[in-house]
Amino acid sequence: MAISPEMITQAAIASFAQSDNPRLKQIMQSLVKHLHAFAQETHLTEAEWMAGIQFLTATGHKCDDVRQEFILLSDTLGLSMLLVAMHDGAQSGATEATVLGPFHTPDAPAMASGSDLSNSAPGEPLYVTGRVLSADGKALAHARIDVWQADAEGLYDVQRSELGGNRRARGVVESDAEGNFSFWSVLPEAYPVPTDGPVGQMLVANGRHPWRPAHIHFLIEAQGYQPLVTHIFREGDRYLDTDVVFGVRPSLVGKFVAHKKGNAPDGRVMTEDYWSMDYAFKLQPI
Ligand SMILES: [Fe+2]
Repeated sequence: MAISPEMITQAAIASFAQSDNPRLKQIMQSLVKHLHAFAQETHLTEAEWMAGIQFLTATGHKCDDVRQEFILLSDTLGLSMLLVAMHDGAQSGATEATVLGPFHTPDAPAMASGSDLSNSAPGEPLYVTGRVLSADGKALAHARIDVWQADAEGLYDVQRSELGGNRRARGVVESDAEGNFSFWSVLPEAYPVPTDGPVGQMLVANGRHPWRPAHIHFLIEAQGYQPLVTHIFREGDRYLDTDVVFGVRPSLVGKFVAHKKGNAPDGRVMTEDYWSMDYAFKLQPI
C-alpha cells in the first residue's frame, strides 16, 4: 500500500504519544500538525525547504552576545507581539505591554532618579518624568525602572562597537515614595531593525520596510506586581501605523513636548532647546 501524506503526519504526531511531559507533548504534536499543514497548503518543494533550512542556519550564525537574530525573526513575523497580546493583563486598567525587542541588556547602570542617562548620546535633550502606579491608582515606591532607547542616529549603544561596551541612553532608576521618577536622555528617532542579516534579506525580498517608529523602552518591576515590558512611542512618527514588528498600541503613544532653552522643570539650566515627556505606568498585581 502506498504511503499517503496523511499517514506520515499521523505517524509523526503519534511518535510523541508516549511523552511523559504533557505540555511538551501538546506543543510538539501541535507543531508537527501545523508544520505539515503548512507544507501541504503551500505545496512546499524540497528545494524550498532546503532554502528555509539555510535561512534558519544563517539566522543562528548571525547571533552573538549582543545580536539576537531569532528574536528579530520572531518580532518581524508578528509572533512576539502575538504572544504579548495573548498574555497581556491590560484589561484590568494596567498599561499595555509590547515587545521586549533584541536590545535589552541585563547590565544597565543603576542611577539616581533625575540623572542624565544619555552619556553623550547624539540627540536633542529629553526630560522624562513618570509615575509608577497600581492598576487602581496606588503609588508604587521603590519600583525598578529599566530604560533603553536608540539615539538620534537610530542606534542603540550595543550597536556601536566604538563604545567598547560602555552603556549609553540606557539605565535603571527607582521610583520615590510617591511613585515618581525622572531622568534625562535624548529624543529617540525612528530606526530600521538591523538589515545586514537574513531577517533583513527576508524583509527586502518581500518588499517590506525595516522601520520602527521612535520609542523608549521600559521594563518596570515592583514587588507584588507583574513586570511590565513596554515602550512609549513618539506621537506623530510616520511609522506608527506600519511598525515592522507590529508593536504599536495607541495607548502607548506619548506626548513629546518641545521647549525653548531656559530653566527646565528640575532646575537644570538648558542652553539649547529640549523636549519633555510624561507618562503614568500602571502595573497589574500578581
Ligand atoms: Fe527599540
